[in-house]
Amino acid sequence: MATPHIEAKEGVIAKTVLMPGDPLRAQYIAETYLENVVKFNNVRNMFGFTGTYKGKEISVMGSGMGMASIGIYSYELFKFYDVENIIRIGSCGAYSAELNLYDVLLADKVWSESSFAKVQSGEDIHVTYPSKELNEGIMDAAKKLNINVRQGTIHSSDVFYRENFKEFEKIYVEHGALAVEMESFALFHNAKVTGKNAACLLTVSDSLVTHEATTAEERQFAFTKMMDVALEMA
Ligand code: HPA
Repeated sequence: MATPHIEAKEGVIAKTVLMPGDPLRAQYIAETYLENVVKFNNVRNMFGFTGTYKGKEISVMGSGMGMASIGIYSYELFKFYDVENIIRIGSCGAYSAELNLYDVLLADKVWSESSFAKVQSGEDIHVTYPSKELNEGIMDAAKKLNINVRQGTIHSSDVFYRENFKEFEKIYVEHGALAVEMESFALFHNAKVTGKNAACLLTVSDSLVTHEATTAEERQFAFTKMMDVALEMA
């Protein structure tokens, strides 16, 4: 039952999938945290793995960058592989001076100027929401682990490099977005149209306010707080 972008056989992907953007991070997570790991996807090097965590089956797969990419993978997982829950675990750029590098955020609302929802299902909307149940589970897991997770509105953008980067100040004021990433609007929309569940946990990797940033290498290994929360929840 392969799809155009996932070659997994039926029944190989768990009901819950953690999705980092980077397929190498998916591999790192599988190798570091999971037992009995089986790789289920190599197509376009968008690696996916299924294993067990504390005895429970879970999958982890890269989403690629941007709504176009996560839009494809999340739709195929929800629609053709019977996946029930996708938890994105990604990075974001802070729009607020209150946020520090490595703070962990949980999206409770996403605003986007993207046409993704309109093109995908005809709904002219610019706000999407995560699953209430998943978010509650994530907050419970964070509490149990004594990890501080801040809930708030996230901006999902189609564009990483803006000519007028100061535009973010307007988005912060008008939409209350604390930070920017590039995937959750499409992920939440796909969950809605397929009747499934999605959530988005983010670690602050850079700040548009202070221009502090982490390196790609630091990012791959420093996001353990977020990983612990996601795995505990799953
Ligand atoms: N912009 C968009 N997406 C991001 C950023 C950013 O600054 N940082 C991490 N993901």
